[in-house]
Amino acid sequence: MRQTSPTMAALSVLRITLLLTVYCLSSVSGTCPESDQIHCGTSDRCTRIRYICDGDNDCGDNTDEDSTLCEAWRNTDCERNQAKCTRSGRSDCVTISHYCTLTSPPCEGTVDQRLCQMLANGKIRPLREIQLHTTTPAPTEPAPTEPSIHVREENFAGQFLMKLNNTIRHPDCPWLYTKVGDQCLSIFFVGNMSWMEARTFCQTIGGDLFTITEDFKAFAVLLQHFMTHQMTADFWIGGRYINTTVGWTWINDAPLPLGSPYWAVRHEERCTTRRINYSILNTTAEANDGVCYNYVQAPKDPPVGHCSSLDYKYYYYIADDNCFIKKSPLCVLPGEHPKQAQ
Ligand SMILES: *[C@@H]1O[C@H](CO)[C@@H](O)[C@H](O)[C@H]1NC(C)=O
Ligand SMILES: *[C@@H]1O[C@H](CO)[C@@H](O)[C@H](O)[C@H]1NC(C)=O
Ligand SMILES: *[C@@H]1O[C@H](CO)[C@@H](O)[C@H](O)[C@H]1NC(C)=O
Ligand SMILES: *[C@@H]1O[C@H](CO)[C@@H](O)[C@H](O)[C@H]1NC(C)=O
Ligand SMILES: *[C@@H]1O[C@H](CO)[C@@H](O)[C@H](O)[C@H]1NC(C)=O
Repeated sequence: MRQTSPTMAALSVLRITLLLTVYCLSSVSGTCPESDQIHCGTSDRCTRIRYICDGDNDCGDNTDEDSTLCEAWRNTDCERNQAKCTRSGRSDCVTISHYCTLTSPPCEGTVDQRLCQMLANGKIRPLREIQLHTTTPAPTEPAPTEPSIHVREENFAGQFLMKLNNTIRHPDCPWLYTKVGDQCLSIFFVGNMSWMEARTFCQTIGGDLFTITEDFKAFAVLLQHFMTHQMTADFWIGGRYINTTVGWTWINDAPLPLGSPYWAVRHEERCTTRRINYSILNTTAEANDGVCYNYVQAPKDPPVGHCSSLDYKYYYYIADDNCFIKKSPLCVLPGEHPKQAQ
């Protein structure tokens, strides 16, 4: 089962409510003149909701005093027309109409949901005739049969082929490369290897590990490509840590800029204050009056991992990692523009 977040749950409640509302509007022939009224079962009349099961034949057809209806309508916890509603740690007697309309959280109590359905429909009906609108299929329907392994294999093969087409195949690029923006990239998500192996792999197929040139746009286009094609693998890219004096550089020895918008942000349990150097004053001070922050930006200082990667968990912002961990190679073919399709 997929976990649903509170927002998702609230949204689905809202959607069901909307569906019910649309259903009601379409199933009732005209509304009663006042909002606290409901259509009688068989007569043309409207009666007040609070007159249901009060012992008087208000509708004239006795539908407001139907015995099965009243068995559900009356309860011993509260006055007639009311029911006990427990929500958010409180128990109160509320009108049944109110009970039925409360959501997020809904009332916990003993009110028969068919009564709520009846109120939502705006017409009194014998309880046994009321069908609950549920989102799950009725139990009498045959259970959906699992597609045969053959059909599933075909679907899987089709999806996999499409993914390969978008990662290692393109008419404008050589074999194992696909076109991303102006570049031919090999997004080889089917293999796992160390950073050194990944670099060797890229060189073997005529390229090298991906680097971000002076043009940041290539990075943005790559991130967009990953998102569009629902990439979930982790990739090695061509940035690495040399030593304390040189720091992080690309494999062509160009410096790898630190900070945003390149590097991942990590959440930490322990917060830290951030310091700012005021070169004019020749002093350093805590930023924002010493506010303690739980987010730190990669890479770790002092460095722990010496190789750079684009990881799914960091939404493909650059992260530093141990070079021996196995990830997929992300290769780029040298040369700016792939050849145009014939
Ligand atoms: C993948 O690309 C090949 C050749 O370009 C094409 O024949 C095939 O239909 C494509 N498959 C999918 C699933 O897009
Ligand atoms: C690569 O390694 C990751 C993490 O160990 C794993 O989740 C993934 O399935 C592996 N991919 C392949 C193609 O082996
Ligand atoms: C750092 O690396 C550079 C280039 O490899 C080298 O020239 C320099 O001596 C190194 N510095 C230290 C402190 O190791
Ligand atoms: C501020 O200066 C200190 C020492 O001069 C240095 O270690 C630190 O990295 C500097 N911090 C920033 C944010 O530049
Ligand atoms: C900054 O302060 C340091 C020590 O606090 C001192 O050695 C240095 O000369 C100062 N620099 C300037 C430009 O005042």
